Amino acid sequence: MSNLIEIERKSNMHSDVGGNYLSIGAINSENIRAQIREAGLKGIAPLEAWTVQGSNRDLAYSTHGVFRFFGKFPPPIANHLISNYTRKGDAVLDPMCGSGTTGVECLLLGRNAVLFDVNPLSLMLARVKTRHIEKSLLESAAQYIKQAYKPLGRSKDAYDPIGLRNPEHWFLPETIQSLRGLKKIIETEMRPDVREALLVAFAGTVRRVSRATTQQGRLFLDAETAINDALPTFLKRMEKLSAALSTLPKRGRSLIRIYKNDSRKPFDRKYHESTNLLILHPPYFNAYRYSSVNSLELSWLDHAHGDVAPQEVREFFKVGKPEKVEFYLQDMAAAIENAAALVRPGGVIALMIGDTVLRGEHICVLKNLLGKIKKETLSVEKIALRVPRYTEATWVASQRRKEGRLGATLCDYVVILRK
Ligand SMILES: C[S@@+](CC[C@H](N)C(=O)[O-])C[C@H]1O[C@@H](n2cnc3c(N)ncnc32)[C@H](O)[C@@H]1O
Repeated sequence: MSNLIEIERKSNMHSDVGGNYLSIGAINSENIRAQIREAGLKGIAPLEAWTVQGSNRDLAYSTHGVFRFFGKFPPPIANHLISNYTRKGDAVLDPMCGSGTTGVECLLLGRNAVLFDVNPLSLMLARVKTRHIEKSLLESAAQYIKQAYKPLGRSKDAYDPIGLRNPEHWFLPETIQSLRGLKKIIETEMRPDVREALLVAFAGTVRRVSRATTQQGRLFLDAETAINDALPTFLKRMEKLSAALSTLPKRGRSLIRIYKNDSRKPFDRKYHESTNLLILHPPYFNAYRYSSVNSLELSWLDHAHGDVAPQEVREFFKVGKPEKVEFYLQDMAAAIENAAALVRPGGVIALMIGDTVLRGEHICVLKNLLGKIKKETLSVEKIALRVPRYTEATWVASQRRKEGRLGATLCDYVVILRK
């Protein structure tokens, strides 16, 4: 059967997870062979198929479930890579850290990590999800907010969401007043760690109470989901956050460092050749623009999404033109070259990336990107097809159902590159 290796891998997961890589036996391997043919990946490197066992709830251990970040990867993947390619005390780097999954796993496994992103929401999520805070501190902060909260009408000093052309399109007028009131009290919190934790609960509330669908990464209007009063949702989020943050090891601040950086530009030389494992999980071609997916949250956190967008990889979200893939590949080739400079000789880059199917045309993103990588710097050690189960966004899941081919349309890979 070509060079496809079916694996049944027991990796040393965090003990709470209950999720493991599974054999792909349950999936029709003809579909997977067809996917490999379409993707042009045969013969490049040994192939494996990975999938993660466990419900979304199983995968929300530690702080992984405190914010619904669309397009986050399942924590067992980060855990598996870190456990396999590093030892305690080694350095891991994630230049597009998103919601900080790599950072959380590094903290749990006792690795040093440096995380970067261009999106201020991501940077805040990654910080909060890796910083221990005592439960009682957050509970009393939430209690204070509950007592002091009142909705705020429009006034000279009242806060308004930034960078949204038409806030009333996405929020009921009552909800805007409610979010304004909440934001105003949160701003009075003087302890920076506590304030950021409150802001994460607040950011997690924004989409839930808005008029946008809560189930899909992309923003669609669904007036049914709107909620006038944001306080109960916020308090529920705070409960979850207080419980999760108090379970974290206390070394977060020293082990996990988080900075803003555009990965298409060279990194500070002080990081060069310092990394044992680099995990790179970019936006996919034509799937999501993170500043757009998170525009509601960003706007309530004082960031115009239009200011973040130019710093992002050009992914052509919503454009739907296959020929634009060349620009995406240029950005990704630059990001990989910059990333490679950070890795020690013998170290690994684990690249998580996907092909795209646009109106029936398979866009061979991975194959073309591998063609741009300098062979004398990096060799392709293996390619694992990632077979989605529970953690993918709903629109991807619905595409899979439509095709009736489990895992065959997502075309998602973990590529192991060795320096
Ligand atoms: C697929 S997400 C990463 C998700 C992450 N692995 C997690 O589990 O949450 C991709 C991230 O890349 C970031 N990004 C996009 N362009 C970037 C760039 N030029 N430099 C750094 N980060 C970028 C986005 O803001 C987004 O947070």
